[in-house]
Amino acid sequence: MKDLVSALSEANAAVFQGLGLDVKHAEVRRSDRPDLGEFQCNGALAVAKGAGKKPQEVAQSVVANWRALELAAPPVIAGPGFLNFTATPQALAARAQFIAGDARAGAMAVAQKRRVVVDYGGPNVAKGMHVGHLRSSIIGESVKRVYRFLGDEVWGDAHFGDWGFQMGLVITALEDELGGFSDAAKLDARLGSLTLEHLEGIYPASAAKAKEDASFRDRARKATAALQSSAEPHRTIWKAMHDVSMAAQKRDFAALGVNFDLWLGESDADPLIPDMVKHLEAKGLLEEDQGARIVRVAGPGETKKKKLEDGSVVEVESPDPLLVVSSEGSAMYGTTDLATIRQRVRDQQPDLILYVVDQRQADHFEQVYRAAAKAGYMARDQLEHVGFGTMNGTDGKPFKTRAGGVLKLQDMIGQAEEKARERLRENEIGADFSKEEFEDVAHKVALAAIKFADLSNFRGTSYVFDLDRFMSFEGKTGPYLLYQAVRIKSVLRKADEQGAAAGAISIEHEAERALALALDAFNGALRAAYEKRAPHFLAEHAYALAQAFSGFYTHCPILPSKGAVRASRLALAGATLKQLTLTLDLLGIAVPERM
Ligand code: ARG
Repeated sequence: MKDLVSALSEANAAVFQGLGLDVKHAEVRRSDRPDLGEFQCNGALAVAKGAGKKPQEVAQSVVANWRALELAAPPVIAGPGFLNFTATPQALAARAQFIAGDARAGAMAVAQKRRVVVDYGGPNVAKGMHVGHLRSSIIGESVKRVYRFLGDEVWGDAHFGDWGFQMGLVITALEDELGGFSDAAKLDARLGSLTLEHLEGIYPASAAKAKEDASFRDRARKATAALQSSAEPHRTIWKAMHDVSMAAQKRDFAALGVNFDLWLGESDADPLIPDMVKHLEAKGLLEEDQGARIVRVAGPGETKKKKLEDGSVVEVESPDPLLVVSSEGSAMYGTTDLATIRQRVRDQQPDLILYVVDQRQADHFEQVYRAAAKAGYMARDQLEHVGFGTMNGTDGKPFKTRAGGVLKLQDMIGQAEEKARERLRENEIGADFSKEEFEDVAHKVALAAIKFADLSNFRGTSYVFDLDRFMSFEGKTGPYLLYQAVRIKSVLRKADEQGAAAGAISIEHEAERALALALDAFNGALRAAYEKRAPHFLAEHAYALAQAFSGFYTHCPILPSKGAVRASRLALAGATLKQLTLTLDLLGIAVPERM
Protein backbone atom coordinates (compact mmCIF):
# COMPACT_ATOMS: atom_id res chain seq x y z
CA MET A 1 0.00 0.00 0.00
CA LYS A 2 1.24 3.47 -0.91
CA ASP A 3 1.70 6.20 1.64
CA LEU A 4 -0.74 9.09 1.69
CA VAL A 5 1.48 11.56 -0.19
CA SER A 6 1.77 9.06 -3.04
CA ALA A 7 -1.96 8.30 -3.07
CA LEU A 8 -2.83 12.00 -2.96
CA SER A 9 -0.27 12.82 -5.65
CA GLU A 10 -1.79 10.19 -7.93
CA ALA A 11 -5.35 11.39 -7.33
CA ASN A 12 -4.25 14.96 -7.93
CA ALA A 13 -2.38 13.98 -11.09
CA ALA A 14 -5.59 12.42 -12.43
CA VAL A 15 -7.38 15.74 -11.86
CA PHE A 16 -4.54 17.70 -13.49
CA GLN A 17 -4.57 15.37 -16.46
CA GLY A 18 -8.32 15.72 -16.87
CA LEU A 19 -7.88 19.48 -16.93
CA GLY A 20 -5.07 19.29 -19.48
CA LEU A 21 -2.51 20.54 -16.94
CA ASP A 22 1.07 19.31 -16.71
CA VAL A 23 0.94 16.41 -14.22
CA LYS A 24 4.55 17.09 -13.30
CA HIS A 25 3.23 19.83 -11.04
CA ALA A 26 0.54 17.70 -9.38
CA GLU A 27 2.83 16.41 -6.65
CA VAL A 28 1.38 16.56 -3.14
CA ARG A 29 3.70 16.90 -0.18
CA ARG A 30 3.51 17.05 3.57
CA SER A 31 2.53 20.56 4.49
CA ASP A 32 4.99 22.80 6.24
CA ARG A 33 1.93 24.65 7.60
CA PRO A 34 -0.02 21.84 9.27
CA ASP A 35 -2.37 24.48 10.69
CA LEU A 36 -3.68 25.07 7.13
CA GLY A 37 -3.77 21.46 6.01
CA GLU A 38 -1.85 18.25 6.39
CA PHE A 39 -0.77 17.98 2.77
CA GLN A 40 -0.24 20.56 0.07
CA CYS A 41 0.32 21.08 -3.62
CA ASN A 42 1.77 24.29 -5.02
CA GLY A 43 1.40 23.17 -8.61
CA ALA A 44 -1.49 25.45 -9.54
CA LEU A 45 0.92 28.38 -9.41
CA ALA A 46 3.44 26.62 -11.60
CA VAL A 47 1.00 25.50 -14.31
CA ALA A 48 -1.14 28.66 -14.42
CA LYS A 49 1.19 30.58 -16.69
CA GLY A 50 1.40 27.85 -19.30
CA ALA A 51 -2.38 27.40 -19.20
CA GLY A 52 -2.91 31.16 -19.62
CA LYS A 53 -4.98 31.29 -16.44
CA LYS A 54 -4.78 32.81 -12.99
CA PRO A 55 -3.47 30.43 -10.30
CA GLN A 56 -6.73 30.94 -8.38
CA GLU A 57 -8.77 29.78 -11.36
CA VAL A 58 -6.61 26.72 -11.84
CA ALA A 59 -6.91 25.90 -8.14
CA GLN A 60 -10.68 26.33 -8.29
CA SER A 61 -10.98 23.94 -11.18
CA VAL A 62 -8.92 21.35 -9.27
CA VAL A 63 -11.28 21.73 -6.30
CA ALA A 64 -14.33 21.39 -8.58
CA ASN A 65 -12.95 18.25 -10.20
CA TRP A 66 -11.61 16.48 -7.10
CA ARG A 67 -13.02 12.93 -7.10
CA ALA A 68 -10.97 10.94 -4.54
CA LEU A 69 -13.33 11.74 -1.69
CA GLU A 70 -12.56 8.54 0.21
CA LEU A 71 -8.96 9.78 0.43
CA ALA A 72 -9.46 13.48 1.16
CA ALA A 73 -12.15 16.13 0.94
CA PRO A 74 -11.73 18.56 -1.98
CA PRO A 75 -8.67 20.70 -1.25
CA VAL A 76 -8.97 24.12 0.31
CA ILE A 77 -7.35 27.04 -1.50
CA ALA A 78 -4.97 29.24 0.44
CA GLY A 79 -3.15 32.42 -0.58
CA PRO A 80 -2.61 32.89 -4.30
CA GLY A 81 -3.54 29.30 -5.20
CA PHE A 82 -1.99 26.79 -2.81
CA LEU A 83 -4.02 23.61 -2.49
CA ASN A 84 -4.33 22.21 1.02
CA PHE A 85 -5.53 18.67 1.58
CA THR A 86 -6.84 16.96 4.69
CA ALA A 87 -6.97 13.17 4.71
CA THR A 88 -10.24 11.51 5.69
CA PRO A 89 -10.39 9.52 8.95
CA GLN A 90 -11.13 6.45 6.82
CA ALA A 91 -8.01 6.90 4.72
CA LEU A 92 -5.90 7.40 7.84
CA ALA A 93 -7.41 4.36 9.52
CA ALA A 94 -6.82 2.19 6.46
CA ARG A 95 -3.24 3.33 6.25
CA ALA A 96 -2.57 2.75 9.96
CA GLN A 97 -4.21 -0.66 9.70
CA PHE A 98 -1.94 -1.57 6.84
CA ILE A 99 1.12 -0.43 8.78
CA ALA A 100 0.00 -2.43 11.82
CA GLY A 101 -0.04 -5.60 9.74
CA ASP A 102 2.99 -4.91 7.55
CA ALA A 103 6.36 -6.44 8.38
CA ARG A 104 8.01 -3.37 6.80
CA ALA A 105 5.84 -1.02 8.87
CA GLY A 106 4.67 0.82 5.77
CA ALA A 107 8.00 1.22 4.00
CA MET A 108 8.24 0.60 0.28
CA ALA A 109 11.31 -0.94 -1.34
CA VAL A 110 13.35 0.50 -4.20
CA ALA A 111 12.03 -0.23 -7.69
CA GLN A 112 15.49 -0.97 -9.01
CA LYS A 113 17.92 -2.91 -6.84
CA ARG A 114 21.50 -1.76 -6.92
CA ARG A 115 24.76 -3.22 -5.72
CA VAL A 116 26.25 -0.84 -3.20
CA VAL A 117 29.49 -0.81 -1.21
CA VAL A 118 29.49 1.40 1.87
CA ASP A 119 33.04 2.29 2.91
CA TYR A 120 32.98 3.43 6.53
CA GLY A 121 34.69 3.11 9.90
CA GLY A 122 38.16 3.40 8.38
CA PRO A 123 40.30 3.07 11.53
CA ASN A 124 44.05 3.03 11.16
CA VAL A 125 46.36 0.30 12.28
CA ALA A 126 48.65 1.43 15.10
CA LYS A 127 46.64 4.59 15.69
CA GLY A 128 43.76 3.10 17.64
CA MET A 129 40.20 4.16 17.10
CA HIS A 130 39.15 7.57 18.30
CA VAL A 131 36.03 9.69 18.15
CA GLY A 132 36.90 10.81 14.63
CA HIS A 133 36.11 7.28 13.50
CA LEU A 134 33.04 7.21 15.68
CA ARG A 135 30.98 9.42 13.40
CA SER A 136 31.99 7.44 10.34
CA SER A 137 31.03 4.21 12.07
CA ILE A 138 27.69 5.48 13.36
CA ILE A 139 26.61 7.23 10.17
CA GLY A 140 27.98 4.51 7.88
CA GLU A 141 26.29 1.72 9.82
CA SER A 142 22.96 3.53 9.52
CA VAL A 143 23.42 4.29 5.81
CA LYS A 144 24.25 0.62 5.23
CA ARG A 145 21.16 -0.55 7.11
CA VAL A 146 18.90 1.91 5.25
CA TYR A 147 20.21 0.80 1.87
CA ARG A 148 19.86 -2.86 2.72
CA PHE A 149 16.36 -2.39 4.14
CA LEU A 150 15.22 -0.64 0.97
CA GLY A 151 16.26 -3.68 -1.02
CA ASP A 152 19.71 -2.96 -2.41
CA GLU A 153 22.48 -5.52 -2.15
CA VAL A 154 24.95 -3.93 0.23
CA TRP A 155 28.46 -4.60 1.52
CA GLY A 156 29.87 -2.63 4.42
CA ASP A 157 33.68 -2.43 4.25
CA ALA A 158 35.87 -1.16 7.11
CA HIS A 159 38.74 -0.17 4.81
CA PHE A 160 41.43 -0.30 7.48
CA GLY A 161 44.24 2.20 7.12
CA ASP A 162 47.07 -0.32 7.20
CA TRP A 163 49.41 0.53 4.36
CA GLY A 164 50.48 4.11 4.74
CA PHE A 165 53.28 6.20 6.13
CA GLN A 166 52.28 5.49 9.75
CA MET A 167 53.53 1.93 9.20
CA GLY A 168 56.96 3.18 8.16
CA LEU A 169 57.02 5.55 11.13
CA VAL A 170 56.38 2.83 13.69
CA ILE A 171 58.80 0.42 12.02
CA THR A 172 61.54 3.06 12.12
CA ALA A 173 60.80 3.91 15.75
CA LEU A 174 61.07 0.21 16.64
CA GLU A 175 64.35 0.01 14.77
CA ASP A 176 65.74 2.83 16.91
CA GLU A 177 64.30 1.40 20.10
CA LEU A 178 65.93 -1.98 19.47
CA GLY A 179 69.19 -0.52 18.16
CA GLY A 180 68.64 -2.06 14.74
CA PHE A 181 67.01 -5.24 13.51
CA SER A 182 70.08 -7.47 13.53
CA ASP A 183 69.08 -9.34 16.71
CA ALA A 184 66.21 -11.53 15.51
CA ALA A 185 65.43 -12.95 18.96
CA LYS A 186 65.16 -9.46 20.42
CA LEU A 187 62.78 -8.35 17.67
CA ASP A 188 60.75 -11.49 18.12
CA ALA A 189 60.35 -10.88 21.83
CA ARG A 190 59.38 -7.27 21.23
CA LEU A 191 56.73 -8.20 18.70
CA GLY A 192 55.44 -10.97 20.95
CA SER A 193 54.67 -8.47 23.69
CA LEU A 194 53.31 -5.76 21.40
CA THR A 195 50.01 -4.25 22.50
CA LEU A 196 47.76 -1.61 21.05
CA GLU A 197 48.69 0.65 23.98
CA HIS A 198 52.35 0.41 22.91
CA LEU A 199 51.48 1.25 19.35
CA GLU A 200 49.34 4.14 20.42
CA GLY A 201 52.34 5.49 22.30
CA ILE A 202 54.89 4.84 19.55
CA TYR A 203 52.85 6.26 16.71
CA PRO A 204 52.29 9.85 17.94
CA ALA A 205 55.86 10.08 19.23
CA SER A 206 57.29 8.97 15.90
CA ALA A 207 54.92 11.23 13.95
CA ALA A 208 56.10 14.18 16.05
CA LYS A 209 59.73 13.18 15.56
CA ALA A 210 59.28 12.97 11.79
CA LYS A 211 58.06 16.55 11.77
CA GLU A 212 61.28 17.83 13.31
CA ASP A 213 63.84 15.31 12.21
CA ALA A 214 64.24 15.18 8.43
CA SER A 215 66.53 12.15 8.45
CA PHE A 216 64.08 10.18 10.61
CA ARG A 217 61.30 11.18 8.24
CA ASP A 218 63.37 10.04 5.32
CA ARG A 219 64.09 6.68 6.89
CA ALA A 220 60.39 6.24 7.68
CA ARG A 221 59.52 6.92 4.05
CA LYS A 222 62.04 4.37 2.92
CA ALA A 223 60.71 1.89 5.48
CA THR A 224 57.20 2.40 4.08
CA ALA A 225 58.46 1.67 0.56
CA ALA A 226 60.41 -1.35 1.84
CA LEU A 227 57.32 -2.73 3.57
CA GLN A 228 55.33 -2.32 0.40
CA SER A 229 57.88 -4.32 -1.52
CA SER A 230 57.64 -7.08 1.10
CA ALA A 231 61.07 -6.55 2.66
CA GLU A 232 61.89 -8.23 5.98
CA PRO A 233 61.62 -7.69 8.87
CA HIS A 234 59.20 -4.93 7.77
CA ARG A 235 56.58 -7.38 6.66
CA THR A 236 56.77 -9.37 9.92
CA ILE A 237 56.56 -6.22 12.02
CA TRP A 238 53.65 -5.01 9.94
CA LYS A 239 51.80 -8.30 10.45
CA ALA A 240 52.25 -8.09 14.22
CA MET A 241 50.99 -4.49 14.33
CA HIS A 242 48.15 -5.32 12.01
CA ASP A 243 46.95 -8.27 14.05
CA VAL A 244 47.13 -6.48 17.38
CA SER A 245 45.23 -3.46 16.03
CA MET A 246 42.68 -5.51 14.14
CA ALA A 247 41.78 -7.58 17.20
CA ALA A 248 41.32 -4.46 19.32
CA GLN A 249 39.28 -2.74 16.66
CA LYS A 250 37.03 -5.72 16.14
CA ARG A 251 36.32 -5.56 19.85
CA ASP A 252 35.57 -1.84 19.68
CA PHE A 253 33.25 -2.24 16.73
CA ALA A 254 31.42 -5.10 18.42
CA ALA A 255 30.89 -2.94 21.51
CA LEU A 256 29.49 -0.24 19.28
CA GLY A 257 27.11 -2.60 17.50
CA VAL A 258 28.81 -1.96 14.18
CA ASN A 259 29.28 -4.86 11.82
CA PHE A 260 31.15 -5.12 8.56
CA ASP A 261 30.64 -7.59 5.77
CA LEU A 262 34.19 -7.02 4.57
CA TRP A 263 37.03 -6.43 7.00
CA LEU A 264 39.43 -5.35 4.28
CA GLY A 265 42.09 -2.72 4.34
CA GLU A 266 44.39 -0.68 2.16
CA SER A 267 46.94 -3.51 2.17
CA ASP A 268 44.43 -5.83 0.51
CA ALA A 269 44.45 -3.60 -2.56
CA ASP A 270 48.24 -3.73 -2.76
CA PRO A 271 48.44 -6.80 -5.01
CA LEU A 272 46.38 -4.90 -7.60
CA ILE A 273 48.72 -1.91 -7.71
CA PRO A 274 51.41 -3.11 -10.16
CA ASP A 275 48.81 -4.02 -12.76
CA MET A 276 46.95 -0.78 -12.16
CA VAL A 277 50.11 1.26 -12.65
CA LYS A 278 50.72 -0.59 -15.92
CA HIS A 279 47.18 0.07 -16.99
CA LEU A 280 47.40 3.78 -16.16
CA GLU A 281 50.66 3.91 -18.03
CA ALA A 282 49.19 2.20 -21.08
CA LYS A 283 46.33 4.66 -21.07
CA GLY A 284 48.82 7.49 -21.07
CA LEU A 285 47.52 8.83 -17.79
CA LEU A 286 50.70 8.62 -15.72
CA GLU A 287 53.02 11.59 -15.78
CA GLU A 288 56.44 12.01 -14.25
CA ASP A 289 56.57 14.84 -11.75
CA GLN A 290 59.78 15.51 -9.81
CA GLY A 291 60.52 11.83 -9.45
CA ALA A 292 56.96 10.92 -8.56
CA ARG A 293 54.23 9.62 -10.85
CA ILE A 294 50.90 11.39 -10.96
CA VAL A 295 47.56 11.44 -12.74
CA ARG A 296 46.25 14.88 -13.62
CA VAL A 297 42.56 15.21 -12.88
CA ALA A 298 41.80 18.92 -13.41
CA GLY A 299 39.82 19.81 -16.51
CA PRO A 300 40.73 22.64 -18.87
CA GLY A 301 40.52 25.97 -17.08
CA GLU A 302 40.12 24.42 -13.63
CA THR A 303 42.58 26.33 -11.52
CA LYS A 304 43.00 27.81 -8.07
CA LYS A 305 45.31 30.39 -6.61
CA LYS A 306 48.20 29.05 -4.60
CA LYS A 307 50.53 30.96 -2.34
CA LEU A 308 54.18 29.98 -2.68
CA GLU A 309 56.72 29.97 0.14
CA ASP A 310 58.15 33.29 -0.99
CA GLY A 311 54.70 34.86 -0.67
CA SER A 312 53.97 35.14 -4.39
CA VAL A 313 50.69 33.80 -5.75
CA VAL A 314 50.39 31.51 -8.78
CA GLU A 315 47.52 29.85 -10.65
CA VAL A 316 47.71 26.06 -10.35
CA GLU A 317 45.47 23.27 -11.61
CA SER A 318 42.64 22.25 -9.31
CA PRO A 319 41.94 19.61 -8.07
CA ASP A 320 45.58 18.72 -7.47
CA PRO A 321 46.91 15.73 -9.43
CA LEU A 322 46.56 12.32 -7.79
CA LEU A 323 49.90 11.06 -6.51
CA VAL A 324 50.13 7.40 -7.59
CA VAL A 325 53.76 6.48 -6.97
CA SER A 326 55.87 8.56 -4.59
CA SER A 327 59.47 9.43 -5.35
CA GLU A 328 60.47 6.60 -2.96
CA GLY A 329 58.41 4.26 -5.08
CA SER A 330 55.68 3.74 -2.51
CA ALA A 331 51.90 3.68 -2.81
CA MET A 332 50.04 6.59 -1.29
CA TYR A 333 46.59 7.00 0.29
CA GLY A 334 45.13 7.78 -3.13
CA THR A 335 46.91 4.83 -4.75
CA THR A 336 45.34 2.28 -2.46
CA ASP A 337 41.96 3.99 -2.79
CA LEU A 338 42.16 3.82 -6.59
CA ALA A 339 43.26 0.19 -6.51
CA THR A 340 40.46 -0.59 -4.05
CA ILE A 341 37.97 0.65 -6.62
CA ARG A 342 39.35 -1.87 -9.10
CA GLN A 343 39.24 -4.55 -6.42
CA ARG A 344 35.58 -3.79 -5.69
CA VAL A 345 34.71 -3.74 -9.38
CA ARG A 346 36.28 -7.19 -9.60
CA ASP A 347 34.69 -8.63 -6.44
CA GLN A 348 31.38 -6.85 -5.85
CA GLN A 349 30.62 -5.22 -9.20
CA PRO A 350 29.06 -2.26 -7.41
CA ASP A 351 26.73 0.23 -9.08
CA LEU A 352 27.60 2.69 -6.36
CA ILE A 353 30.28 3.14 -3.72
CA LEU A 354 29.51 5.44 -0.79
CA TYR A 355 32.46 6.71 1.24
CA VAL A 356 31.34 7.81 4.68
CA VAL A 357 34.37 9.89 5.63
CA ASP A 358 35.11 13.23 7.30
CA GLN A 359 34.26 16.17 5.07
CA ARG A 360 37.83 17.40 5.32
CA GLN A 361 38.86 14.61 2.95
CA ALA A 362 36.62 15.93 0.14
CA ASP A 363 39.56 16.98 -2.06
CA HIS A 364 41.20 13.59 -1.74
CA PHE A 365 38.06 11.80 -2.89
CA GLU A 366 37.49 14.22 -5.75
CA GLN A 367 40.99 13.37 -7.02
CA VAL A 368 40.46 9.63 -6.64
CA TYR A 369 37.02 9.65 -8.27
CA ARG A 370 38.18 11.69 -11.22
CA ALA A 371 41.19 9.44 -11.72
CA ALA A 372 38.92 6.36 -11.55
CA ALA A 373 36.61 7.88 -14.15
CA LYS A 374 39.50 8.84 -16.44
CA ALA A 375 40.92 5.34 -16.18
CA GLY A 376 37.49 3.88 -16.89
CA TYR A 377 37.21 1.95 -13.60
CA MET A 378 33.92 3.48 -12.50
CA ALA A 379 31.92 6.50 -13.62
CA ARG A 380 32.22 9.68 -11.60
CA ASP A 381 28.58 9.53 -10.50
CA GLN A 382 28.97 5.99 -9.17
CA LEU A 383 31.44 7.20 -6.57
CA GLU A 384 30.19 9.39 -3.81
CA HIS A 385 31.74 11.00 -0.78
CA VAL A 386 29.19 11.06 2.03
CA GLY A 387 30.99 13.65 4.13
CA PHE A 388 30.33 14.69 7.68
CA GLY A 389 31.33 17.45 10.09
CA THR A 390 33.35 17.11 13.26
CA MET A 391 32.33 16.28 16.78
CA ASN A 392 33.54 19.26 18.73
CA GLY A 393 34.40 20.07 22.30
CA THR A 394 32.79 23.01 24.09
CA ASP A 395 35.61 25.16 22.67
CA GLY A 396 34.19 24.59 19.18
CA LYS A 397 37.26 22.65 18.05
CA PRO A 398 37.39 18.92 17.24
CA PHE A 399 36.89 17.07 20.50
CA LYS A 400 39.89 16.36 22.72
CA THR A 401 40.17 14.93 26.21
CA ARG A 402 41.03 17.18 29.11
CA ALA A 403 44.64 16.07 28.74
CA GLY A 404 44.50 17.26 25.14
CA GLY A 405 44.61 13.81 23.58
CA VAL A 406 42.06 12.08 21.42
CA LEU A 407 39.37 10.27 23.37
CA LYS A 408 39.49 6.59 22.67
CA LEU A 409 36.27 4.96 21.67
CA GLN A 410 36.35 2.42 24.45
CA ASP A 411 36.81 5.13 27.05
CA MET A 412 34.01 7.14 25.57
CA ILE A 413 31.61 4.20 25.69
CA GLY A 414 32.76 3.55 29.25
CA GLN A 415 32.02 7.15 30.25
CA ALA A 416 28.61 6.99 28.61
CA GLU A 417 27.77 3.75 30.40
CA GLU A 418 28.73 5.25 33.73
CA LYS A 419 26.45 8.23 33.07
CA ALA A 420 23.67 5.89 31.94
CA ARG A 421 23.88 3.94 35.21
CA GLU A 422 23.61 7.23 37.12
CA ARG A 423 20.56 8.32 35.14
CA LEU A 424 18.84 4.97 35.49
CA ARG A 425 19.31 5.11 39.26
CA GLU A 426 18.09 8.71 39.44
CA ASN A 427 14.97 7.71 37.55
CA GLU A 428 14.56 4.69 39.78
CA ILE A 429 14.81 2.33 36.85
CA GLY A 430 16.16 -1.16 37.22
CA ALA A 431 16.29 -1.49 41.02
CA ASP A 432 14.65 -4.88 40.58
CA PHE A 433 16.80 -5.98 37.61
CA SER A 434 19.50 -8.61 37.81
CA LYS A 435 23.01 -7.23 37.48
CA GLU A 436 23.23 -8.52 33.88
CA GLU A 437 19.99 -6.94 32.83
CA PHE A 438 20.90 -3.63 34.48
CA GLU A 439 24.26 -3.61 32.69
CA ASP A 440 22.64 -4.52 29.40
CA VAL A 441 20.14 -1.68 29.75
CA ALA A 442 22.89 0.78 30.73
CA HIS A 443 24.89 -0.25 27.66
CA LYS A 444 21.89 0.20 25.37
CA VAL A 445 21.03 3.57 26.90
CA ALA A 446 24.66 4.69 26.53
CA LEU A 447 24.84 3.73 22.87
CA ALA A 448 21.39 5.17 22.13
CA ALA A 449 22.52 8.46 23.66
CA ILE A 450 25.76 8.65 21.65
CA LYS A 451 24.29 7.45 18.38
CA PHE A 452 21.11 9.46 18.45
CA ALA A 453 22.98 12.64 19.36
CA ASP A 454 25.15 12.10 16.31
CA LEU A 455 22.40 11.05 13.91
CA SER A 456 19.88 13.70 14.89
CA ASN A 457 22.04 16.36 13.19
CA PHE A 458 22.38 16.49 9.45
CA ARG A 459 25.69 14.69 8.90
CA GLY A 460 27.33 17.78 7.40
CA THR A 461 26.76 19.73 10.60
CA SER A 462 29.36 19.69 13.34
CA TYR A 463 28.05 19.29 16.87
CA VAL A 464 29.25 19.63 20.41
CA PHE A 465 29.94 16.55 22.49
CA ASP A 466 27.86 16.93 25.65
CA LEU A 467 27.22 13.64 27.38
CA ASP A 468 24.89 15.19 29.97
CA ARG A 469 22.57 16.50 27.31
CA PHE A 470 22.75 13.34 25.18
CA MET A 471 21.83 11.26 28.21
CA SER A 472 18.73 13.21 29.27
CA PHE A 473 15.53 11.20 29.51
CA GLU A 474 13.60 14.19 28.19
CA GLY A 475 13.78 16.00 24.87
CA LYS A 476 15.24 14.89 21.59
CA THR A 477 17.56 12.18 22.90
CA GLY A 478 18.23 8.49 22.46
CA PRO A 479 17.26 7.63 26.04
CA TYR A 480 13.91 9.42 25.62
CA LEU A 481 13.14 7.32 22.55
CA LEU A 482 14.10 4.08 24.28
CA TYR A 483 11.92 5.09 27.18
CA GLN A 484 8.92 5.66 24.90
CA ALA A 485 9.43 2.36 23.11
CA VAL A 486 9.74 0.48 26.38
CA ARG A 487 6.62 2.18 27.70
CA ILE A 488 4.63 0.88 24.73
CA LYS A 489 6.05 -2.58 25.30
CA SER A 490 4.84 -2.45 28.86
CA VAL A 491 1.32 -1.33 27.85
CA LEU A 492 1.12 -4.16 25.32
CA ARG A 493 2.37 -6.66 27.89
CA LYS A 494 -0.32 -5.57 30.34
CA ALA A 495 -2.98 -5.75 27.64
CA ASP A 496 -1.84 -9.27 26.91
CA GLU A 497 -2.11 -10.22 30.56
CA GLN A 498 -5.64 -8.84 30.62
CA GLY A 499 -6.54 -10.76 27.49
CA ALA A 500 -7.17 -7.55 25.54
CA ALA A 501 -6.44 -7.91 21.81
CA ALA A 502 -5.78 -5.41 19.03
CA GLY A 503 -8.49 -4.96 16.42
CA ALA A 504 -9.76 -2.72 13.64
CA ILE A 505 -8.32 0.78 13.76
CA SER A 506 -10.62 3.76 13.68
CA ILE A 507 -9.47 7.35 13.88
CA GLU A 508 -11.71 9.50 16.11
CA HIS A 509 -9.63 11.69 18.38
CA GLU A 510 -7.26 14.45 17.18
CA ALA A 511 -4.38 12.64 18.91
CA GLU A 512 -5.19 9.42 17.06
CA ARG A 513 -5.20 11.39 13.85
CA ALA A 514 -1.80 12.89 14.63
CA LEU A 515 -0.39 9.45 15.43
CA ALA A 516 -1.73 7.93 12.19
CA LEU A 517 -0.21 10.82 10.23
CA ALA A 518 3.12 10.28 11.98
CA LEU A 519 3.04 6.55 11.15
CA ASP A 520 2.30 7.35 7.52
CA ALA A 521 5.32 9.68 7.32
CA PHE A 522 7.82 6.83 7.84
CA ASN A 523 8.07 5.93 4.18
CA GLY A 524 8.86 9.52 3.19
CA ALA A 525 11.49 9.86 5.92
CA LEU A 526 13.13 6.62 4.86
CA ARG A 527 13.15 7.69 1.23
CA ALA A 528 14.78 10.99 2.14
CA ALA A 529 17.40 9.21 4.27
CA TYR A 530 18.14 6.93 1.31
CA GLU A 531 18.29 9.58 -1.36
CA LYS A 532 20.27 12.12 0.64
CA ARG A 533 22.36 9.45 2.39
CA ALA A 534 21.28 11.22 5.57
CA PRO A 535 20.02 9.22 8.54
CA HIS A 536 18.90 12.34 10.38
CA PHE A 537 15.61 12.17 8.46
CA LEU A 538 14.94 8.90 10.28
CA ALA A 539 16.10 10.34 13.59
CA GLU A 540 13.60 13.17 13.11
CA HIS A 541 10.93 10.65 12.28
CA ALA A 542 11.63 8.57 15.38
CA TYR A 543 11.26 11.65 17.54
CA ALA A 544 8.10 12.89 15.81
CA LEU A 545 6.56 9.43 16.14
CA ALA A 546 7.46 9.16 19.83
CA GLN A 547 5.96 12.58 20.44
CA ALA A 548 2.78 11.73 18.55
CA PHE A 549 2.51 8.58 20.64
CA SER A 550 3.05 10.55 23.79
CA GLY A 551 0.14 12.88 22.89
CA PHE A 552 -2.03 9.90 22.00
CA TYR A 553 -1.20 8.14 25.25
CA THR A 554 -2.13 11.24 27.25
CA HIS A 555 -5.44 11.89 25.51
CA CYS A 556 -6.57 8.42 24.51
CA PRO A 557 -6.39 6.00 27.43
CA ILE A 558 -5.69 2.51 26.15
CA LEU A 559 -6.15 -0.04 28.91
CA PRO A 560 -8.95 1.82 30.73
CA SER A 561 -11.02 1.99 27.51
CA LYS A 562 -13.29 -0.80 26.36
CA GLY A 563 -14.31 -2.91 23.39
CA ALA A 564 -13.67 -1.65 19.88
CA VAL A 565 -12.04 1.57 21.10
CA ARG A 566 -9.49 -0.33 23.15
CA ALA A 567 -8.85 -2.78 20.29
CA SER A 568 -8.23 0.10 17.90
CA ARG A 569 -5.89 1.89 20.30
CA LEU A 570 -3.98 -1.31 20.99
CA ALA A 571 -3.51 -1.76 17.25
CA LEU A 572 -2.21 1.82 16.98
CA ALA A 573 0.17 1.23 19.89
CA GLY A 574 1.40 -2.00 18.30
CA ALA A 575 2.00 -0.29 14.96
CA THR A 576 3.89 2.50 16.71
CA LEU A 577 6.13 0.10 18.61
CA LYS A 578 6.94 -1.88 15.50
CA GLN A 579 7.77 1.19 13.45
CA LEU A 580 9.70 2.92 16.22
CA THR A 581 11.79 -0.19 16.89
CA LEU A 582 12.46 -0.56 13.18
CA THR A 583 13.41 3.10 12.78
CA LEU A 584 15.76 2.89 15.74
CA ASP A 585 17.27 -0.29 14.35
CA LEU A 586 17.95 1.51 11.08
CA LEU A 587 19.82 4.06 13.16
CA GLY A 588 21.78 1.22 14.76
CA ILE A 589 19.99 1.65 18.11
CA ALA A 590 18.72 -1.39 20.05
CA VAL A 591 15.74 -1.19 22.42
CA PRO A 592 15.82 -3.05 25.76
CA GLU A 593 12.88 -5.21 26.86
CA ARG A 594 12.14 -2.99 29.83
CA MET A 595 13.62 -0.03 31.67
N1 ARG B 1 41.79 5.59 7.38
C1 ARG B 1 41.26 6.85 6.95
C2 ARG B 1 41.40 7.89 8.06
O1 ARG B 1 41.50 7.55 9.21
C3 ARG B 1 39.82 6.76 6.53
C4 ARG B 1 39.52 5.82 5.40
C5 ARG B 1 38.35 6.25 4.59
N2 ARG B 1 38.07 5.42 3.46
C6 ARG B 1 38.74 5.47 2.30
N3 ARG B 1 38.40 4.66 1.35
N4 ARG B 1 39.73 6.32 2.11
O2 ARG B 1 41.40 9.06 7.76
